[in-house]
Amino acid sequence: MKKVITYGTYDLLHQGHINLLKRAKDLGDYLIVGVTNDNFDRERGKLNVRNNVLERVEAVKATGYADKIIIEDYVGQKIDDIQKYDVDIFAIGSDWEGKFDYLNEFCKVVYLPRTEGISSTMLREESQLVVRVGVVGCGRIASRFVPESQFVSGVCVSGVYDVDFAKAANFMVEHNVPNFYRSYENLLDNVDAVYVSTPHLSHYELAKQALLAGKHVLCETPMVLNADEAKELYEIAESKSVILMEANKTAHCPAFNHLIAMVKSGVIGEVVDVEASLSKVWGDKSLREFDPAQAGGSMFELGSYPLLPIIKLLGTGYKNLNLYSRIENGVDIYTKGIFCYDKAVCSFKVGLGVKTEGNLVVSGTKGYALVPSPWWLTDYFELRYENQNENKKFFYKWDGAGLRYEIQEFVSCIVNKRFSSARLRRRESICMANVMQQFAERKNFFVL
Ligand code: CTP
Repeated sequence: MKKVITYGTYDLLHQGHINLLKRAKDLGDYLIVGVTNDNFDRERGKLNVRNNVLERVEAVKATGYADKIIIEDYVGQKIDDIQKYDVDIFAIGSDWEGKFDYLNEFCKVVYLPRTEGISSTMLREESQLVVRVGVVGCGRIASRFVPESQFVSGVCVSGVYDVDFAKAANFMVEHNVPNFYRSYENLLDNVDAVYVSTPHLSHYELAKQALLAGKHVLCETPMVLNADEAKELYEIAESKSVILMEANKTAHCPAFNHLIAMVKSGVIGEVVDVEASLSKVWGDKSLREFDPAQAGGSMFELGSYPLLPIIKLLGTGYKNLNLYSRIENGVDIYTKGIFCYDKAVCSFKVGLGVKTEGNLVVSGTKGYALVPSPWWLTDYFELRYENQNENKKFFYKWDGAGLRYEIQEFVSCIVNKRFSSARLRRRESICMANVMQQFAERKNFFVL
């Protein structure tokens, strides 16, 4: 029996794919089709794939040409598959001519004629609505947003607004944004969505106004510092059929998502403890981050990052939370929080004036996961066990400032009308707002 193998993304399955699969099948008796995993595509820089891996597998199956479908997860897998399945022929479209000659060592490599005039890229472009985003607030993070958005298809930054007009005008020139607006209403009239990156205390009003105007909102983290406000905003978004998403970049990082999925699948047993820390010590105390009137301090500034792994892994149903802070000039320069769950205890530490090791450790009944500092930009993690031979290391690519992943998810939610993203569920975002509220109200709160 002659076995043939071929690989592809097979997004928005089209006639070119069908012809290719038929030609590949005709080369032998048994056809194996490797379909790329979503994470694998993201790592290759293919951020715009429309169908998820399950949909793409179903589409390939429906052609009737594949005898077996496998998932392509990592670079170098082709060699492993060829040996594992005892493959005779590796077939791929002629657009890859020469690129897979290295596989000749393991089997015969055939480049098949590609169907002219059609591709997934073309179909995506034809059907893609371009989401016009207005940037609200021209601070540090906003200046990273614009270049990052250029890596995501289906989105363009079309305007900018800041209470300080001069700042907005400079931002427009510096980032080549087509317009700046003197009023927020004016910006809202001219965009489909806004990215709110203003100081925390203005998020609620700005997000609410945009949602009520029927605009999608991507709001910097912490979205709001109050659970009722968070609930209200999500309710308005749903009633207006628009997307509201909290822009927590760690939540969208591919490696972090893989870590969460692996831990939830039980690779380290039952999770009993999560410890996450993050500190950024700044000398300049005149920054907004140290201003009590602008919700400065470690908890509001950094808290939503370490809260993320705790809430994602152990849920929103903790029994109690104690907070311990060292306060200077009206803001917490250091806060430690201890969550008690039914069968687990978790803690986090954040510091703007205290330095600590910034790692993430998830302890389980069979082993633990260690993500070294800076874990909030996860590109590497380890699973460790009593028997060190079982330890495993995982490496990922982290592109640029990492905002492209959250922008891509935001656009994908808009295009596919998904109100809640699995990366950061609405209830998880509300739970974070609730923790911020507890801190603001000084409940179960101890001053050091
Ligand atoms: N293919 C083909 N003819 C086309 C498009 C794709 O023969 N018009 C082949 C590719 O050469 C590859 C397989 O189909 O062997 C899967 O390709 P994939 O990358 O999924 O399809 P594209 O349409 O090229 O996707 P994209 O535009 O995202 O690169």
